[in-house]
Amino acid sequence: LSHLSGSSVVEQQFPLVFAVRDPEGHKGTFGSVGILGGAPGMTGAVILAGRAALKSGVGKTYLALAQTPLPVAYDSNYPELMLHEASGLIESASSMTAWVAGCGLGQAPAALALLRRLFAVRAELPLVLDADALNALAQGEISNTWGKGLVVLTPHPTEAARLLQTDTRTIQSDRAQAAQTLAHRYRAWVVLKGAGTIICSPEGQWQINTTGNVSLATGGTGDVLSGLLGSLLAQGIPAEQAIPAGVWLHGAAADALVSQGKGPIGLTAGELPDAIRDLRNRV
Ligand code: APR
Ligand code: MG
Repeated sequence: LSHLSGSSVVEQQFPLVFAVRDPEGHKGTFGSVGILGGAPGMTGAVILAGRAALKSGVGKTYLALAQTPLPVAYDSNYPELMLHEASGLIESASSMTAWVAGCGLGQAPAALALLRRLFAVRAELPLVLDADALNALAQGEISNTWGKGLVVLTPHPTEAARLLQTDTRTIQSDRAQAAQTLAHRYRAWVVLKGAGTIICSPEGQWQINTTGNVSLATGGTGDVLSGLLGSLLAQGIPAEQAIPAGVWLHGAAADALVSQGKGPIGLTAGELPDAIRDLRNRV
């Protein structure tokens, strides 16, 4: 991605992300994403991921909340988000086309049990693991062997350090190496976040993303990224395009908002999904 300079180049590199939509398409054509997270007090994380999923073009967005009872009409601004208790929705895991897990999930035993159950029933569906799902993985609370079907890990440097049992400074001293080690160890796609996000394939091929800026250094922007990646994968876009293009879009949305004077100071994560949508339609 480092050589990308303009939108038309992006369009050429990721044709399936920017392809014209099938005019005969229906909502089933564009997939369904399930997002597991949102322990009590952390509902916002899963809502942000859900908004990003909606605005990046998935057909249907289901939130599997790790709390009972559900918060009532939590997000009346986004009635399109379908909120469910996680334990029930996970049993219909196979009616999704991709899953995201971890956003505000917490570390409670009940949350870990939900994560284990999702692993057991996901079959070969693409799965994005973020935040507390990564912490659970680092602590050996969930299995680190998955069958077929791609897994994407989206650690920030401290989460990467936990996964590799090292410290954040070591991760940051050679980010590409850290991403490759993670990709190899977990046989997964890795998105090592932070300025100059590294994207690494399970085979160890890595690239640096050049979009994004310090306006993203605010709570919830990582949740937006995981929802966006899950959405693109749910739409059937192959990982080789969905993952680098998703990271590019997330950063480019922040760049566009800054150029409109909405950052770097005071940008909020909730402003990103609309900007992501605008880019996906305009590029
Ligand atoms: N330049 C470019 N991009 C940046 C910069 C920067 N200076 N700083 C942050 N970002 C981007 C990262 O690349 C990433 O995409 O912002 C996003 C931040 O993601 P996270 O670190 O996951 O932050 P957040 O969304 O707040 O995480 C929510 O989940 O990871 C847990 O414990 C964590 O409480 C936190 C929660
Ligand atoms: Mg995060």
